[in-house]
Amino acid sequence: MTMRKKMTRLLLIVGSWSVLSSCIAQDQAMNLGIPVSESDLQALDLVAPPDGTGFPEGSGTAQQGRAVFNTQCAACHAADGTGTSGATVIVGGDMQSDEAPLRTVGSYWPHASTLFDYIRRAMPANAPKSLNDEEVYQVVAYVLYLNGIVDQDAVIDKAALMAIEMPNADGFIDVSQRQ
Ligand code: HEC
Repeated sequence: MTMRKKMTRLLLIVGSWSVLSSCIAQDQAMNLGIPVSESDLQALDLVAPPDGTGFPEGSGTAQQGRAVFNTQCAACHAADGTGTSGATVIVGGDMQSDEAPLRTVGSYWPHASTLFDYIRRAMPANAPKSLNDEEVYQVVAYVLYLNGIVDQDAVIDKAALMAIEMPNADGFIDVSQRQ
């Protein structure tokens, strides 16, 4: 490298550092960022993992969930869950197919609890967190019913979600158990 190139590179490094440090100084001057309080965190903490922690009280059946699904979900997922686009198919499918593996709740998801967790936090996609806990249990029951996993009268609550054996439960390798 020529001396001139070396100097240019050095100047560029020094230049970017001074831009960066002036940004940091500006952020501090503007007092950006506020500490998150415990109650703020609780409102956001909607995690309900397969170990059963974090589930609210409540229950519901697919029978009850049909109305929730038809008004809140069917516009994107179709009334029978077959979807209105590639990403919105939530029933059927076969992950093992060589021609067209399709990832859905029935063909892919290993834990029923994840359905509760996901729907409560992310769905309906145009108004996440707008359903109350009862409605989430009901619509979760309905999605399981559409996938042929539960009957329409089965009461779905935390204990039931823990006990359900999902069709693809064995399709995963638990890497935490690997040496
Ligand atoms: C405005 C459109 C829209 C509405 C309304 C909507 N969804 Fe979705 N949903 C989506 C989209 C888009 C995805 C795919 C998101 C992705 O791939 O990241 C999705 C994904 C899902 C999935 C995960 C599918 C998978 O296998 O990855 C489930 C389950 C689901 N939605 C359930 C629901 C339920 C239940 C409701 C009603 C309470 C609902 N959705 C309402 C658009 C919608």
